Amino acid sequence: MPITVNEQEKTIHLETDHTSYMMAVSEYGHLGHLYYGKRIKHVNPAEHFRFFEVPSPRPDLKREKARMLAIFPFEYPTGGTGDFRTPALQVRNEKGMSACELLYRDARVEFGKPKLPGLPSSFGDEQSVETLTVELEDPVLHLKVMLLYSVFVKEDIITRSVRICNEGKEGLTIERALSASMDLENRNFEVLGLFGDWARERHPERVKLHHGKQVISSLRGVSSPQEAPFIALLGEGTSQERGEVTAMNFVYSGNFVAVAERSASESVRLGMGIHPEGFSWQLLPGAEFVTPEVVMTYSSEGLDEMTHHFHDFYRNHLIRSRYLQEERPVLINNWEGTYFDFDETKLYEIARGASACGIEMFVMDDGWFGNRNDDEHGLGDWMVNEEKLKGGIRQLADRIRGLGMKFGIWVEPEMVNPDSDLYREHPDWAIAIPGREPSLFRSQLVLDISRKEVRDEIMDRILKVLHEVEADYVKWDMNRYLSDLGSFALTQERQGELSHRYVLGVYEMQERLVKELPNLLFENCSSGGARFDPGMLYYSPQIWTSDDTDAIERLKIQEGTALVYPLSTMGAHVSKVPNEQVGRICPIATRANVALAGSFGYELDITKMTAEEKEEIPKQIRMYHRFRKLTMEGDYYRIASWSAERPFDVWMIVSKDRKEALVTYVQVLGRPQTGAERIRLRGLDPDTGYHMETVSGKMLPSTSSLRYGDDLMNDGMLFPALGDFESLVLYLRAERAGV
Ligand code: GLA
Repeated sequence: MPITVNEQEKTIHLETDHTSYMMAVSEYGHLGHLYYGKRIKHVNPAEHFRFFEVPSPRPDLKREKARMLAIFPFEYPTGGTGDFRTPALQVRNEKGMSACELLYRDARVEFGKPKLPGLPSSFGDEQSVETLTVELEDPVLHLKVMLLYSVFVKEDIITRSVRICNEGKEGLTIERALSASMDLENRNFEVLGLFGDWARERHPERVKLHHGKQVISSLRGVSSPQEAPFIALLGEGTSQERGEVTAMNFVYSGNFVAVAERSASESVRLGMGIHPEGFSWQLLPGAEFVTPEVVMTYSSEGLDEMTHHFHDFYRNHLIRSRYLQEERPVLINNWEGTYFDFDETKLYEIARGASACGIEMFVMDDGWFGNRNDDEHGLGDWMVNEEKLKGGIRQLADRIRGLGMKFGIWVEPEMVNPDSDLYREHPDWAIAIPGREPSLFRSQLVLDISRKEVRDEIMDRILKVLHEVEADYVKWDMNRYLSDLGSFALTQERQGELSHRYVLGVYEMQERLVKELPNLLFENCSSGGARFDPGMLYYSPQIWTSDDTDAIERLKIQEGTALVYPLSTMGAHVSKVPNEQVGRICPIATRANVALAGSFGYELDITKMTAEEKEEIPKQIRMYHRFRKLTMEGDYYRIASWSAERPFDVWMIVSKDRKEALVTYVQVLGRPQTGAERIRLRGLDPDTGYHMETVSGKMLPSTSSLRYGDDLMNDGMLFPALGDFESLVLYLRAERAGV
């Protein structure tokens, strides 16, 4: 039984294979957090609630309510009544006063997991997940708050979200509604987050948790490349292999906040949810608001284990696409190869060259519609530009299919250029504040897709094209942040709902796309990886990781992304040199070896490649075919992260049965007079002998003999010092494994 509600003792215990999560109701009726950690049986509520502690040197001093609220470990804290730490919920009444206090009512358990209306969320059958609903109430506001916890035993994951219902007769305004919160005791934590910007997304960064608040957030309307919707608290000395990790990830694609607050009493409040800044939601009598889902996990065995929990969970319980199981075609995308400068002959020639090398799908990127010859015109006019593509797209798609390839297409449904027929027709469809000139970004404005008529019209136009060409693949882009937040359709009281309604609009549009075209391979994108989050993965099994395609730049980007998301979700392409973003010249083998850790493809004009380079492509594709199942389904281990002192990167992918593994080693900079590097592998079976095969690059002769797991993991193996940007890939196969 993963969920136990003890009505007598008023305790609740959630159990996964390796973790326990515990709550209890205090004598005053508040729901308190007791424990999240390694699986245990018993915990003492009184000790956590600290009722026996006298908060003053004078033992006769009465402990008043406010003193208690200030230190009580709340499971879902509220603002306004005396707990001055970060609240999860803040509600204003009709008189404009803001306070809320939640008391426990009851708890019930059901098999399976209910859907969250209008929101992406994880799923599972009655055998794999149980859901707890804890009902709390503010009797003054007549507000019912239901905390939902779904327990995924095998993956060591607990998901949380909250349903907030107005059961009174007065209108209420929600000003803050986080999806999860918990109060822990300080253990000298560090905070790990993923930070960056366009073209350098999700670099891991780890700092000590200081007193006060540490906040990771986005107010850009997307989950953002600057700060990702992920936070982890690490215990002292936590490494990839060892130590405690408590992590949260948000199944949401818009403004979010993750807060870790260390207070004077040495408690740590960890919370995550929709960013309250600029947010408000009118909750009329009888109405309900549902928060998006937070995914939580705990690992007592370091970061690798946390990664495995997330990867398995997203593969088993979030990504719906049939391409999760099916092998995805190797694609070529023309963006970096041509930008806007193409016609049907140029595209066909790229496709022809690609097909001769074994590439399986051609993707036509931006520039095929309206008057779209640069980024200033035509966005929103989803009709083929026949001056560029004579004969139309269907004809081009048919010719390319005639080469034995699949055909894919780029769209950017949420946007409009002021210089477009769509904008001239419907200027009020763009998000803007009347009387204020909205800021342009990449010459475009954001469409107000909180409005149903806007969503429907755009989707009708785009789906018409997709049906007409029978698209096999779509890349859905989103190339700017939201600013000048004003909707012509929302009332004054509801303008604070725009950002969230926008995200709900995106979800509704993408749901329509996947329902109408269930066989489509769907890839999300947002100026590269500006909206790489679990919300998007519910619709598309892969996301374009970054516009930075340089193999060395990709090391940190892919390391940070793969810390949380399965390798199969990362769009990764071999592109031309010198690289478009950084001008670096990496060998084609390294470009491919790095891209092999994702959904593999090419992003270049193949007609401009040298014969020598072109010869490499069929070999790379064979390598991808050979290892794609392992990459999609295996366990990922981060072995070394490059730094100035140790300028090499190493990762492994090990099959679940530990009979196969891939090891990739990339030398970022070569160093003279340094010997081979001894590196300890991980994840292997200690008693199994492995055959080694060097599938890319040049390895030391020691790989020719059979090596045992215990030797490779404890003593390690030697990797040769390579030159700048060189790399190698090793394949390990268990003796007698039938591959
Ligand atoms: C974004 C994407 C690119 C490309 C361009 C097209 O920047 O990330 O891959 O599709 O838009 O305009």
